Amino acid sequence: LHSQIDMHQAYGGVVPELASRDHIRRVLPLAAQVLNDAGMSRSDIDLIAYTRGPGLAGALLVGAGVACAMAMALDKPVLGVHHLEGHLLTPFLSADPPTFPFIALLVSGGHTQLMRVDGVGRYELLGETIDDAAGEAFDKTAKMLGLGYPGGPALAKLATQGDPQAFKLPRPLLTGDRAATLDFSFAGLKTAVWTHLLKLGGTADAPNAGIAAQVIADMAASTQAAITEVLVNKSLKALKASGLKRLVVAGGVGANRSLRDQLDTACARRGVQVHYPELALCTDNGAMIALAAALRVQSGRA
Ligand code: KG4
Ligand code: ZN
Repeated sequence: LHSQIDMHQAYGGVVPELASRDHIRRVLPLAAQVLNDAGMSRSDIDLIAYTRGPGLAGALLVGAGVACAMAMALDKPVLGVHHLEGHLLTPFLSADPPTFPFIALLVSGGHTQLMRVDGVGRYELLGETIDDAAGEAFDKTAKMLGLGYPGGPALAKLATQGDPQAFKLPRPLLTGDRAATLDFSFAGLKTAVWTHLLKLGGTADAPNAGIAAQVIADMAASTQAAITEVLVNKSLKALKASGLKRLVVAGGVGANRSLRDQLDTACARRGVQVHYPELALCTDNGAMIALAAALRVQSGRA
């Protein structure tokens, strides 16, 4: 596993061109190292899998190009895997894997979805965000609060020092005519935080300027509370509507401690079992895509 977080940190976000150039530099040495660490050689490979998308075009192109070339050279099959399918199936790598069927809450930097999962490759979309993703809401708010990149973990950390009820922030789609749906909307939350900050004395260029550290921590806590309350509420709705008693949480935001605590409490009360991928696997794009490909081959859906 190689993380580009340090490289992007200097710019406060992902720089696509740097990301793809770094992919080119890393992918072959990393593949060699993985085989070496596992005590295996290229002849032990049964199939090459790569991320088909969604993601940054340049980085995806590097993966697809290397995978297809390797498969051709080794005379092995090649399989493109959807990034979210990788996230969805990561809990199967943990010590206590779920069994089908289950409801999946997929919460990443680019997606927020609720799905019914009946087996490998058998996914039914129940609801999704109509604008920003949950991770995006964390990241964009963190940026306004002057926190570093990646924003989600930074905001979560600061939130432990703040009051989650200090600011009244909207809980989009929990009330009104779309309350019954399993869709999400997070763009309004970002705007609400922005409006509060400007009222507190922040400026358009530096929305957190001159605002006391405790107030910023309160805003972080209030933002996290708004996002997690919506995610928990809609997950419970999906479980109730389907009658299923199993929930799988996947994607980067699934690492959020507060979200996990609230889901654990709410699900325990309803006899629902919750599965989380191990923290280290939430962001291991190599392991998750390899696993998804292996499961697809095993289930005859490659
Ligand atoms: O699944 P992922 O790697 O992204 C995509 O595939 O898009 O997740 C990254 C997202 C980022 O938005 C990041 O801020 C968020 O997950 N994230 C968190 C936490 N750890 C990562 N958000 C809230 N709390 C966390 N502890
Ligand atoms: Zn992801």
